[in-house]
Amino acid sequence: MKVDGTPYRSLWWDKTQGALQIIDQRWLPHDFRIQQLDTLAEYCEAITGMHVRGAPLIGATAAYGMALAARLDPSDTALDQAWERLHATRPTAINLRWALDRCRAALLALPEAARADAALQLAHDIADEDVEINRSIGLHGFEIIKEIASRKPAGEPVRLLTHCNAGWIATVDWGTATSPMYHAHDAGIPIHVWVDETRPRNQGALTAWELGSHGIPHSYITDNAGGHLMQHGEVDMVIVGTDRTTRSGDVCNKIGTYLKALAAKDNGVPFYVALPSPTIDWTVSDGVAEIPIEERAVQEVSHVQGTLPEGGIGTVQVTPKGCPVGNPAFDVTPSRLVTGLITERGVCEASEAGLAALFPDLASPTGAA
Ligand code: MRU
Repeated sequence: MKVDGTPYRSLWWDKTQGALQIIDQRWLPHDFRIQQLDTLAEYCEAITGMHVRGAPLIGATAAYGMALAARLDPSDTALDQAWERLHATRPTAINLRWALDRCRAALLALPEAARADAALQLAHDIADEDVEINRSIGLHGFEIIKEIASRKPAGEPVRLLTHCNAGWIATVDWGTATSPMYHAHDAGIPIHVWVDETRPRNQGALTAWELGSHGIPHSYITDNAGGHLMQHGEVDMVIVGTDRTTRSGDVCNKIGTYLKALAAKDNGVPFYVALPSPTIDWTVSDGVAEIPIEERAVQEVSHVQGTLPEGGIGTVQVTPKGCPVGNPAFDVTPSRLVTGLITERGVCEASEAGLAALFPDLASPTGAA
């Protein structure tokens, strides 16, 4: 996607530097900064500290981290250690483990001398595949938006609601939940997006920045506004991303997603989840019981970051000093609340049968990937 007219991916390999470049998302939407990652410690901090974020992007970044590790020391021991360090960065998004497992398995099967080049190529492949997956999700989601548009008076926008940022900067490109929006807008179907602010880190501001850059009409709303808008017939469809979806179709995503799904169910609003296949955890069935939920720093809740009136970026405290704070970063929406999963292979029911029918090559009777 473009930033000020220049096409970008959210990460890219700089051949001259022999290093990965990322968009440092800590500063968006206020400032557009690029960071080069040179050490494994920097890769780990980039993921933990959310310089990069969003399940698919975390996976792709980790793959480049394994490539760095293989260049520095291609031994089995060093690769295992790199796997451990990268895996410990964030617990919820399964794309991290998916990418790390894929890299480790491919590299350990090779002689040590071949590992560095193979690892870098594999990271490129994972990044390119992510772009293709998201483009395809967009085409399938577009069909749903088109169908809703066909039932509306000509020119009336399809009103979508999204939570968090499942946009192009949360992936390598296109985004998952935003890809159908980009496709619909580019095809001339009028849409309007309600963008949940997504406290505590306000990832909605990232989504608003993306949509605004692309000329897509949108409104930034508080996290608590969605139910009210749905009750008043102001939402035609909810579409969100996911950090881990179980083989039974339970969807783990940014905290607050579950409440949106409940409100959608109560108001007969279709609730769709954009799901790339690397985000399916085939080993887990009960999302509420089995998915680890990341608990992040309390400062994310007690403070907010923004542009200061005198310029520059600053943080201010919103809670009383010393106020106890909790910060669970994700929640699980049970499959019964999900209208459909929009994957790169098509749309399916949020159920074991639905996913297995689309991905027979990935699903196994034991649930193992
Ligand atoms: O904590 P974050 O910002 O990494 O959480 C991101 C989300 O919850 C996204 O909705 C999800 O990763 C899907 S991104 C395509």
